[in-house]
Amino acid sequence: MQVEALPSAVRSAVQSHRCGGRRTGLVPTMGALHVGHVSLLDAARSECDFVIATIFVNPMQFGPHEDFERYPRTLEQDLQRCEAAGVDLVFTPETSRMYAPGAESIVSLTGLTRKLEGRHRPGHFDGVTTVVAKLFNITVPDRAYFGQKDYQQQLIIRRMASDLDWGVEIVTCPIVREDDGLALSSRNRYLSPAEREKSLSLSRALSLAQDLAQSGSESPDSIARRMQQLISGVEGIDPDYAVVVDCDTLDPLVDRPKRAVALIAVRIGKTRLIDNQILRFR
Ligand code: PAF
Repeated sequence: MQVEALPSAVRSAVQSHRCGGRRTGLVPTMGALHVGHVSLLDAARSECDFVIATIFVNPMQFGPHEDFERYPRTLEQDLQRCEAAGVDLVFTPETSRMYAPGAESIVSLTGLTRKLEGRHRPGHFDGVTTVVAKLFNITVPDRAYFGQKDYQQQLIIRRMASDLDWGVEIVTCPIVREDDGLALSSRNRYLSPAEREKSLSLSRALSLAQDLAQSGSESPDSIARRMQQLISGVEGIDPDYAVVVDCDTLDPLVDRPKRAVALIAVRIGKTRLIDNQILRFR
């Protein structure tokens, strides 16, 4: 497995592998890899000839009071996980190389990024789209893999790739959960045992939402209210939102649709957690 810190080295490796229709797969990450990330690497490995993982804790997507400084950095273990998953090349750039002095270009979307997460984390998605655009330019992937856990992020990256004619196929892989339902996240390690117990209310609220959608009697709005009640009833949870919205636009739903997405974001102590589920209505 090749490990490179310079974009020029990644570019030449990609060029030398890009022959005879060989497909390049990209898995962008911020490191602290867990089984959810491994599922993305596995999908890329099974569908592509040359697999690139990137590990970069992107300062541009963290707000001033967010967890950039304490975000877990576990490079040695991450490289072992990449090697075990059969990754061909890992790109681990320095911040000073990704954001050179004098850099002033930002990739910014004007609609999807203003909703939900965008309201609670101003500027976050500009950081995500700018870094992902740079990673697409450096690695020129045929396919790029993202987790459904960051539902709004994958939607925004799809929009960006299509709007800017990148010709990269965006693949969204299912959420990986612990046995008790907690969606895997690098931030779960911040949770105390008591907070971890409370965090199960997210997946419980989403299961309730799915049951209610299936029951055929509740509107998207009343399902959202039931999720909000469940979450607000847990002491120590501070909800940012719990909504049921259109899967593509994230807009509120007027009628009862065939499918929708339930999205939740909460703060538990100092940790912010998000989760979601596609709902199928009867
Ligand atoms: O999902 C993440 O880990 C990050 O937002 C990403 C896509 C790697 C960009 O920094």
